[in-house]
Amino acid sequence: MAQPRSILILTGAGLSAESGLATFRDKGGIWSKVRIEDVATPEAFVRDPARVQAFYNTRRRDHASAKPNAAHLALAQLEDEFKGDVLVVTQNIDALHEAAGQRHLIHMHGELLKAWCLACDDRAAWNGDITPASVCPHCSATGRLRPDVVWFGEMPYHMDLIEEALAETDLFVSIGTSGNVYPAAGFVAAARAVGARTVELNLEPSEGARLFDEAIHGPATEVVPAFVRRFLV
Ligand code: APR
Repeated sequence: MAQPRSILILTGAGLSAESGLATFRDKGGIWSKVRIEDVATPEAFVRDPARVQAFYNTRRRDHASAKPNAAHLALAQLEDEFKGDVLVVTQNIDALHEAAGQRHLIHMHGELLKAWCLACDDRAAWNGDITPASVCPHCSATGRLRPDVVWFGEMPYHMDLIEEALAETDLFVSIGTSGNVYPAAGFVAAARAVGARTVELNLEPSEGARLFDEAIHGPATEVVPAFVRRFLV
């Protein structure tokens, strides 16, 4: 295959599974244990903020012991060594891409390790629990912080940048996502519409599998490094 000019990579929870972070829709996944309506919507936050904060506080604690895996490291190496452009658009709210050294990265569903102040709109790094006693480091308001995570019913972040990148890419790679949630699940169709080659790397065929030119199934820590080696001299 001729070398692409630019590679746009969409990642999902399957990329972080082997780092010990739970996925959402696999057997035993997060949504088999707790309902989206109870912890991941603006209405849930109004109805029972303590329950929503507890859900994300637990995920922040789980995150503290997670390390980037060979798949995260391979994608960072691709960005470093590939002579064309590489952009990672992640649905994941963990910080494992950054920990692996990825720089050109968009978190379209927000970030677990950030807090959003509803009093002043500032976003700040936040590794600990968010509680009613939490103070905004920017405006000092107390008890006004929420996770800087995009909930169902809210607009994903940076869609303008993502749409621009999709219109320019000539290789779209989807890694570790079930293709259940839009707009991310629609990116493969947008890439095909501009003539990009499309590849899926996943443990098993995703919802959108038929839209990909090529599919490589297996654990991310095996299939991603092998795929990246195609582009490194
Ligand atoms: N290696 C590769 N793929 C894996 C692995 C692994 N070790 N383990 C699981 N997978 C695959 C599963 O087969 C599944 O297709 O990763 C995918 C995970 O799918 P989901 O759990 O649905 O996660 P994701 O697609 O990222 O969810 C998208 O939905 O709940 C919202 O906001 C949340 O960002 C999330 C979005």
